[in-house]
Amino acid sequence: MTSKDTAVEDGKQHRYDPNFTQAVINATGPKATPRVRQLAASLIQHLHDFARENELAVDEWMQGVELMNAAGQMSNDKRNEGQLLCDILGLESLVDEITYRLASDATDEPTATAILGPFYRHNAPQRDMGACIVSDEINKQGDRTWMHGIVTDFRTGEPIEGAVVDVWHTAPNGLYEQQDPDQPEMNLRGRFTTGKDGTYNFYCLRPVPYPIPYDGPAGKVLKALDRHPMRPAHIHFLLTAPGYKPIVTQIFDRKSKYIENDAVFAVKDSLIVDFTPFKGDPNAEFELPYDFKMASFEDAKKHGV
Ligand code: BEZ
Ligand code: FE
Repeated sequence: MTSKDTAVEDGKQHRYDPNFTQAVINATGPKATPRVRQLAASLIQHLHDFARENELAVDEWMQGVELMNAAGQMSNDKRNEGQLLCDILGLESLVDEITYRLASDATDEPTATAILGPFYRHNAPQRDMGACIVSDEINKQGDRTWMHGIVTDFRTGEPIEGAVVDVWHTAPNGLYEQQDPDQPEMNLRGRFTTGKDGTYNFYCLRPVPYPIPYDGPAGKVLKALDRHPMRPAHIHFLLTAPGYKPIVTQIFDRKSKYIENDAVFAVKDSLIVDFTPFKGDPNAEFELPYDFKMASFEDAKKHGV
């Protein structure tokens, strides 16, 4: 290691103006909120350290600028390229973990969270319990699955009445309905509200692995990093209930390809599930039992989340 390498590595001594970064941080004005001041100072410090440590050249920096500009230009209400870039760099998963980790003192824990991803839609149809989220208008591909379970308070084990299970997943072609003009509006989406016993059940499809959109800047980054764009088969959920902290999560098919190397780093062990062959129901080839455990706002506050 040369003396120059050592100087760059420790991040303090380098051959650039030693006062520059602090001067940029100090330019923040007195009306900035404490949180904005903290985030800006840290971001500036890390960005400058990154540039110095890597001796970032002007053309490399400009490539980064162009990538961000392209991401912005490509984004609209159906596509969020900035979020995709964060996802392939693991940032959404990390922020999810930071935001929702509940340092529980109970033996049992609430259902783990996972990233929302860019394909959630508000106002999915409210459906009757036991309904099917596969639109009647679409040809009958995919393995029909009966999913069912109970939503409980993770601490007391009591069923939660009025919990809304909002579910969405892709069609067998790997596309969400808003990405695919051939799918009816709100296909493979639905909201189900639990009754007194906290149970829910509906028909869906056994999901398939699919690529995140890779025809834009995120795809370019994946290619440069020699990485694939695939996600393992999963179903998304947003759970809400009066008095309870919402849960954004996904469950993953244990048998799916890419379960070990999700392009967006969202898989957690406790969210891996088994689809089992289902005999005796002409409407479903597979059964998928899964229970959700929620934390009350009180519990969540106690544990600082
Ligand atoms: C998704 O699972 O819907 C998703 C998550 C991150 C990036 C792209 C898609
Ligand atoms: Fe997804």
